[in-house]
Amino acid sequence: MLQCLQGNILKAHGRPETLNIFFRLDPAQQLQSKRALRELANYHITTADKQLRETEQFKKTKKPGSTFVAAFLSATGYAALGVAPMPNEPLFVAGMSDPTSLAAVKDDLAGWEAAFAQQIDGMILIGDMTRSGVDHKRFEISKLLGEAGAVILHEQVGSAVKNHADVGIEHFGYVDGRSQPLLLTEDIADETTTAGSARWDPSFGLNAALVQDPAANDPDSFGSYFIFRKLEQNVLGFKRREQELADALGLNDDARELAGALVVGRFEDGTPVTMADDSKGQVPPNDFNYGNDPGSRCPFHAHIRKVNPRHADPFERSHIMPRRGIPFTETPRRVPPSDVPDAKSLADFDQTIAPLLPTGGVGLLFMAYNRSLTDQFLFTQQLWANNQDFPAPNTGINPIIGQGPGAAVAQTWPGGWDDTTKPAVAFGFSGFVTMRGGEYFFAPSLTFLKNL
Ligand code: HEM
Repeated sequence: MLQCLQGNILKAHGRPETLNIFFRLDPAQQLQSKRALRELANYHITTADKQLRETEQFKKTKKPGSTFVAAFLSATGYAALGVAPMPNEPLFVAGMSDPTSLAAVKDDLAGWEAAFAQQIDGMILIGDMTRSGVDHKRFEISKLLGEAGAVILHEQVGSAVKNHADVGIEHFGYVDGRSQPLLLTEDIADETTTAGSARWDPSFGLNAALVQDPAANDPDSFGSYFIFRKLEQNVLGFKRREQELADALGLNDDARELAGALVVGRFEDGTPVTMADDSKGQVPPNDFNYGNDPGSRCPFHAHIRKVNPRHADPFERSHIMPRRGIPFTETPRRVPPSDVPDAKSLADFDQTIAPLLPTGGVGLLFMAYNRSLTDQFLFTQQLWANNQDFPAPNTGINPIIGQGPGAAVAQTWPGGWDDTTKPAVAFGFSGFVTMRGGEYFFAPSLTFLKNL
């Protein structure tokens, strides 16, 4: 089964340098397109089996894995190949730029980069330890696609950003990727031993991501729906709003970092704000829930609480998806996110820190695998993140990714950490992440691709 499944679904490929190549097929050259995809499957794509063998090898010898490659098709890609039956989830069939899809998650096509607003038939993801390794594979794959008459529409570079503890962070400066649904027995065992699983069970069934590949004609061949969203981050706007929130909450000096932690649900170093009122500088814990936190430590609207309320309820857990995002940095940063100094006041921020921060040109390539786009990504974005009334009326939207009219409702912040005697503070926090474009794809099985 693992030999017929693409890598990166059950476990992140982990390479710090990536490239997403978006392409359009030539419907008049179906045979050539099929041949190119067969060749990709036979010679380039990294199977789950190979990825896991390389991971084992790395643990023993520290030898890094080979260049990682995965292939994805959109609904128009299947149509161009003339393949039936194809994956048939309504969102996938409609595509991300379809008016109904846009409306469902309150995306605004006017803000999309032209490359993403056009018909995209497929995408190749390349990952490697070095940029030159990525470029080498890019050359081979571009040639293959070009020979089949495919047009390359856009190439999107992604690069991991690390903090001083060598942990991956995003551009606002926070540890990202710590909490994931774990699908492999050995990953679950590792996590349970090193981090614990008494309060949050990180183990999920394979159906957190896998569906039978409808076009493979083989019950043991699986694929996964895939979301790609280019999300631009206004770092200056976000970090300045953190300072304004710190003022509104009466936080001074070192305590000011609490403001951002209340927005994200974790301090920059990954310490969950439901567990502590300052950063602890340890390996970020993940064995926690909000069972004894009525919103006075981690607010209900905080990014991580809103997208994973961490109840043991199986229906709620069924919305959790393996995320595989990576930052992009198109405008080089004056100082890396990990070296941005802490501000002592809003005036100090405006004077010394603001000039160091970008208002755009950087962000997150949000990528995730889904068993069901409707039950996982759409549910999370529409019914949790964008919904000002989840989990209770007037909670406010997710301050990082929430979009739509709910932004008019100010979120309510604890007046003191774990101190319900202090009055709560109403303060609006949103609008610093902008969707620049994306698509819904399917990661087909190798069985399907090899038999095209
Ligand atoms: C620029 C956009 C985004 C930024 C800056 C961001 C940032 C973060 C950070 C810092 C964390 C904490 C690290 C961790 O627990 O892994 C996190 C976790 C998470 N994010 Fe995001 N994120 C973004 C977009 C999204 C989107 C679009 C979704 C889904 C629709 C999402 C879903 C999640 C989930 C499910 C978690 C894990 C929560 C948990 O299990 O506790 N994020 N994100």
